[in-house]
Amino acid sequence: MTSVRVLSVASEIYPTIKTGGLADVAGALPGALAAEGIEVRTLVPGYPDVLRALEAAEEVVRSELFFGGSARLLAGRSSGLDLFVLDAPHLFARTGNPYLTPDGVDWPDNGLRFAALSHMAAEIALGAIASFAPDVVHAHDWQAALAPAYLHYRGRPRPGTVMTVHNLAFPGLFPHDLLSAIDLPPESFVIQGVEYYGRISFLKGGLQFADRLTTVSPTYAREIQTDEGGMGFGGLLRERADRLSGILNGIDVAVWDPATDPRIPGNFSAGDLAGRAANKAALQRRLGLEVVPDALLLGVISRLSSQKGLDLLLETIPTVLGQGMQLAVLGSGDRDLQDGYRAAMQAHPGLVGGWIGYDEDLAHLIQAGADALAVPSRFEPCGLTQLCALRYGAVPIVSRVGGLEDTVVDADDAALVGGSATGFKFAPVTTEALAGALRRAAAAFRSKFDWRRIQLAGMATDVSWRRPAAHYAALYRELAGMRYT
Ligand code: ADP
Ligand code: GLC
Repeated sequence: MTSVRVLSVASEIYPTIKTGGLADVAGALPGALAAEGIEVRTLVPGYPDVLRALEAAEEVVRSELFFGGSARLLAGRSSGLDLFVLDAPHLFARTGNPYLTPDGVDWPDNGLRFAALSHMAAEIALGAIASFAPDVVHAHDWQAALAPAYLHYRGRPRPGTVMTVHNLAFPGLFPHDLLSAIDLPPESFVIQGVEYYGRISFLKGGLQFADRLTTVSPTYAREIQTDEGGMGFGGLLRERADRLSGILNGIDVAVWDPATDPRIPGNFSAGDLAGRAANKAALQRRLGLEVVPDALLLGVISRLSSQKGLDLLLETIPTVLGQGMQLAVLGSGDRDLQDGYRAAMQAHPGLVGGWIGYDEDLAHLIQAGADALAVPSRFEPCGLTQLCALRYGAVPIVSRVGGLEDTVVDADDAALVGGSATGFKFAPVTTEALAGALRRAAAAFRSKFDWRRIQLAGMATDVSWRRPAAHYAALYRELAGMRYT
């Protein structure tokens, strides 16, 4: 089979720069696709961390005037990934969060910054680099979504395009008057173009013009075609339904391997879970929780935003404590939620603990030491933490939305008896329903036999990129066989 060349375009990539699951996907999918005969190069912004980590860098494009400054495109490798790095200091030479100022607000020139990224993707697609002519351009989320739009308006023969929606809640909205600065023609500002209620939506550019649309779970693919889940794009997505599919995410099973994970004190596997006890004790000590082995320790690893439903979990703390559980929270984000969890820790010392911030080592320890992991999201395109939890024997307790619905098998009676249950699901997304799921989990935990079966069924679930990568590979091959003008 001939190899297919893909230019992937992403604004973050694990392990160099990450704010959420997008980075995990951008960082892990290329390796899984290599096994399918797909050659991926990823175009990322030249943030300081990315430039620092780049090895064997070679300048492949230079432009003195590119979106208001000079820019170079570098080709190189980083953590096993083949990268193109857009080194444009006036846009990307900023440390910290890739989207936010140190004060936590969007950089005022984000429109320019990520239009530049997408523009460079289109240049590469149209032949800017003689040694790398992609067969397919794959844009991730709003930051890359203008790439298919640029290619459309250039009107030249071009590779096929795929747009993956990781989160429809981020439409990438910017004022109309940015249009000429980002090199979009006036005729693009129409309903059939990038116009969205009087503004430019970068995401819409991708949704409108990509040859194929994907999102990260089959259930989310259905939800976003509804008026409620479509967040203003439902009509467009219904129109393009024949181009839209849901491909579940995987996780990097080398980074997330309880048998070899260097970040946890007790390595373990499905054959020998003994190490989990040491991890649980280490986690309890680290967070100032009472070091008791038989209390159900419930973990959370999450951005603290309304998407994730963690306000509901705050309200169910009386149920959590009433069932004899402990709570370990790792998260950062909205100030109200941060304050709420800090207050809960103070009110219930020894029972509610956590860390408000971002900490990868602690994320691994929670997966490896907590008995269960709560993901009570209001919507969840896929979700990765429940996948890690399955692999680490932390039983997921999740709402029935998006990828959570697709990746967890509820421990109802039939599934428990049949041995297929891997977690607990609840609907609707309310405190009452969440409390009900917590009570069901607590009851199963008291029966050590049931709990062990649920854990082992979760650990036996294939959460790797193997199957998703085969789906992406099929999609790319289909597009690579076509000509687009
Ligand atoms: P989203 O991308 O919506 O934030 P996902 O579940 O897809 O949600 O991915 C979140 C990723 O970020 C996971 O890899 C998770 O472990 C990680 N993560 C989230 N919050 C934190 C945190 N506070 N510290 C460390 N890792 C975190
Ligand atoms: C988004 C979604 C999350 C998904 C991740 C990676 O951040 O919120 O559900 O897992 O992207 O696709």
